[in-house]
Amino acid sequence: MIQIREEQQGECQKIRQVIVAAFGGDTEANLVELLRDRNRAPVALVAVSDNKIVGHIMFSPVTITPAPKTFRAVGLAPLSVLPEFQRQGIGSMLAREGLKKCAAIGFEAAVVLGSHHYYLRFGFSRASLYGLGNEYDADEHFMAIELKHGALDKVSGTVRYSPEFKECGC
Ligand SMILES: CC(C)(COP(=O)(O)OP(=O)(O)OC[C@H]1O[C@@H](n2cnc3c(N)ncnc32)[C@H](O)[C@@H]1OP(=O)(O)O)[C@@H](O)C(=O)NCCC(=O)NCCS
Repeated sequence: MIQIREEQQGECQKIRQVIVAAFGGDTEANLVELLRDRNRAPVALVAVSDNKIVGHIMFSPVTITPAPKTFRAVGLAPLSVLPEFQRQGIGSMLAREGLKKCAAIGFEAAVVLGSHHYYLRFGFSRASLYGLGNEYDADEHFMAIELKHGALDKVSGTVRYSPEFKECGC
């Protein structure tokens, strides 16, 4: 039985181990810690199986230029599941619950840069269809989803992740 809940203080090391194991390196784990330390992760969830943390997801605010400053959007990254727990739906549970929480706290849209084979299932579409570009020049792998109906109708521009992504080499 998998439980999805918010990450808690004191779990940083366990979460780090999950991210390093999933990505095979520490770049994304460093990113998660920096975002958390700087309070730039409004939503961060873990998946727990038998008291063991087996998955993690983080969302951080993104800017869209030239969108109104009041427009609130979030980037999904990174998403990690321990290799031995992959392909059991845990990543999907984290993504769906995370998007729900982002919507509940007022974010109007979310973006993700990743495999479209994976993320289209959550309702993401190619971001360029909304007139959204990105600083990485990614095309079909850069996707967006409205968390509030019609939110992206009047917004277009270049999406930028928090500066911590560049700081960590992401
Ligand atoms: C991507 C990841 C989080 C998926 O977690 P998961 O719990 O295995 O995902 P689910 O069980 O919900 O979904 C499994 C599906 O995802 C697909 N999938 C898994 N990893 C994928 C990847 N890197 N690229 C494309 N598809 C992927 C599987 O092929 C499977 O597809 P299917 O349902 O069509 O057979 C996990 O594989 C992982 O931690 N990977 C390493 C880190 C990473 O690449 N994170 C994503 C980038 S931020």
